[in-house]
Amino acid sequence: MKRMLSGIKPTGRLTLGNYIGAIREFVKYQDEYEMYIFIANQHALTIPIKASELRKNTKDLIAIYLAAGLDPEKVTLFLQSDVPAHAQLGWIMTCLSGYGELQRMTQFKDKMAKQESGITAGLYTYPSLMAADILLYDPDYVPVGQDQTQHVELTRDLAERFNKRYSDTFKVPEPVVTKVGAKIYDLQNPVKKMSKSESSPKGVIDLLDDPAFARNKIKSAVTDSLGKVAFDPENQPGVSNLLTILSALTEEPIDSIVARYEGIGYAELKAETGEAVFNFLTDLQAKYKEILASGVVDQVLENGAKNAARIANKKISKVYRKVGLSL
Ligand code: AMP
Ligand code: TRP
Repeated sequence: MKRMLSGIKPTGRLTLGNYIGAIREFVKYQDEYEMYIFIANQHALTIPIKASELRKNTKDLIAIYLAAGLDPEKVTLFLQSDVPAHAQLGWIMTCLSGYGELQRMTQFKDKMAKQESGITAGLYTYPSLMAADILLYDPDYVPVGQDQTQHVELTRDLAERFNKRYSDTFKVPEPVVTKVGAKIYDLQNPVKKMSKSESSPKGVIDLLDDPAFARNKIKSAVTDSLGKVAFDPENQPGVSNLLTILSALTEEPIDSIVARYEGIGYAELKAETGEAVFNFLTDLQAKYKEILASGVVDQVLENGAKNAARIANKKISKVYRKVGLSL
């Protein structure tokens, strides 16, 4: 079985876009790959965050992933900070990275351009820590959003550099970019990605939104004046977005939905999509509450850290020998 690894940063709350674009994909992958998923809580410190908020985000995130169908019997789910080898290899990767190489990371450049103050050194060096997160486990594939592919490219460069400078140590991983078709757009401005940080409250569905409130957001989604249900993201972005959401939540192919809507209008499509979202959130939130109340999260993390540390500790010992840290 090929190995896959990904990290999720516990900042802010999760949206329907995160579910359809990422969480749902992970749930599918768990049957095909040996999966390692960790909560990148050390990465969350790159931007100042209150301890209580970080704790709550972390628990919520794990409970939502479990509620969405991630199975701890199949996936190793753990906290980055529970496996100190991440920080240990992180430093070695930082020292292997070029100053200018990190400066060229577009995400860092964009953040520099936007934020006038509060830029930490961690925000600058985190791609090196991300490389360590990945390389500790020798994964074949790393599923990430588009904005993270450059960091996986850096990871590949660092792996090759290390292997060349010392000797063959790390597998060079491949990025897997989530499919374009699964991108969910802002309900009020359907040419912009649905995003917690950038969408208006009416444009984004939070996975912990009241389900009836979420249904209303779908009902007031912006469409167009063409009046024909068709999947045409360029000319009918709003309608196409609703079709993508409905298809993702019901597993009915978009073509088949479009065929059913021959001669039927947008109001019906909104009602059906709204209902699908309502049912999905109701079910997800019931499981989420049950998981939080059961204390299962702590157990999952304890087992996950044990499994992950077995692999990571072996790798870091090898690295310490190769670079000359261990005598
Ligand atoms: P972010 O919340 O932007 O850090 O993204 C976390 C993961 O969710 C990444 O894999 C993204 O590609 C995915 N994601 C975030 N927003 C959306 C969206 N609106 N549509 C599809 N996928 C998304
Ligand atoms: N940097 C990623 C993000 O902001 C999260 C992350 C950290 C990650 N380490 C990783 C993703 C390793 C994949 C593999 O979303």
